Amino acid sequence: MKEKDHHDNFIHRIDRSALWTIIGIIFLFSFSVFVVLIGPSYMDSTWVQPTSRYQVQMYEVSDPHYYISSTTAGNPELQFVQHLKEGLTLLAFQEIDVMRITAPPELEKYITRLGDKTLKLTSKILLLRKPQNPSSQTAFNPVKEEEALRKKEQELWEKNHANWKEEKLVKPSFEIYELYDPGIKEAFSVAAPDAIVENWVDSDYIILEGQSKQPYHSDPGVIYVSNPLEFRISPYVFRDKKAWRYDPNGKAIKDVDELKSHALGFRSRQELIHQGEHIYAIEGCWYCHTDQTRTLVQDVVLNGSDSYPAPPSSANEYIYQEITFPGTRRIGPDLSRTGIKRFSRDWHKGHFWAPKTASQGSIMPAFRHFFDDDPRGTSRNPTGVPNYQFEAIYQYLMTKGTRITPPTQAWWLGKDPIKTLEIIEGRKKLP
Ligand code: HEC
Repeated sequence: MKEKDHHDNFIHRIDRSALWTIIGIIFLFSFSVFVVLIGPSYMDSTWVQPTSRYQVQMYEVSDPHYYISSTTAGNPELQFVQHLKEGLTLLAFQEIDVMRITAPPELEKYITRLGDKTLKLTSKILLLRKPQNPSSQTAFNPVKEEEALRKKEQELWEKNHANWKEEKLVKPSFEIYELYDPGIKEAFSVAAPDAIVENWVDSDYIILEGQSKQPYHSDPGVIYVSNPLEFRISPYVFRDKKAWRYDPNGKAIKDVDELKSHALGFRSRQELIHQGEHIYAIEGCWYCHTDQTRTLVQDVVLNGSDSYPAPPSSANEYIYQEITFPGTRRIGPDLSRTGIKRFSRDWHKGHFWAPKTASQGSIMPAFRHFFDDDPRGTSRNPTGVPNYQFEAIYQYLMTKGTRITPPTQAWWLGKDPIKTLEIIEGRKKLP
């Protein structure tokens, strides 16, 4: 009897544990299905999306419309142009220091005069140029206006600097531009040679069209092109070769195809960045460099400074990359903030050509194939002529640290670098 009892109990126990095993398997299975299917929708959105719409703007609105080429084939100097499109690009016509704008009465409303509190933006294509005589007789003559305006501004300046002769100050000649309506929907404008970081505003601005033409126009902050000068070219002969150069009185560029033609050789910044990412992979830069600022004090301080530590990397910084290189080996410095820390094109030129010269004792290999002309034996180009491989890796490096929220009201969205450091060092506790 005792024996039987024991037997019953045993069977009973097996049944129960088998049941629990099956229930357990079903539970684990459905839990993993739940995690895989439902989980992502509960993830912190900053992991998979830009933390701010500024990032989207900077990339999608600006980069593809920013073109780079050398001034002439084989010339190390670069030209930068911006592709302006009606209804997309926001333009500002803003007087600065010794620059003034003259315009016919109907365009007056587009000008932000010196001292105006509100920046006026428009998505209509208007351009600046050296004042030109009107083709027909009109009440507004830009050339006459220029003279009158310069005289007026200089008199005002003399009045404000009563002792300018004794103080040996130089009277400014005031640059004056004419604002005109070219009556076109697309144009190319000359961009500043190192204008890697775009202009943006998030307060005291107004878009004159009233209703926004693009989603980004209604964001809390926008990027814009300041004082666009039309990019015009004229041909000339350079060492028996036909070349072209920027000429305010030359002919305007028709379209993007002409800009990217063999003769002009422009490439969009977005294309170059993409190519740079592949060069980074192919050349094995990731073998010696990391691309992540960890939350460690040494990282945030090394990539920033004592008083202004760099923000630690967040996942959304990498969303525009096809390949990411967080890396583990830190043989060379971390590169995730290079666009802020080292932005000089000349420095990178010298460094890739001869790392030991730019940085004493460096073990980084030279990348001479980023340059076309071997300058040894000639004094013409002391560091070689960078080719598109250099331009691509340089543009790629310049995205490092610049694709995070720009310093506006939304700065870091709570990822304040100083607070971060205080938290890391335990001086501040998270609420
Ligand atoms: C053999 C290892 C090695 C490889 C490969 C390497 N680097 Fe370096 N890199 C270094 C070292 C070490 C330094 C620090 C000394 C110096 O400035 O040259 C450095 C410095 C740099 C710096 C300056 C960073 C700073 O903040 O001062 C940049 C930018 C850089 N490397 C980019 C690259 C790129 C891009 C590649 C690939 C094309 C690359 N490196 C390949 C070792 C390497």
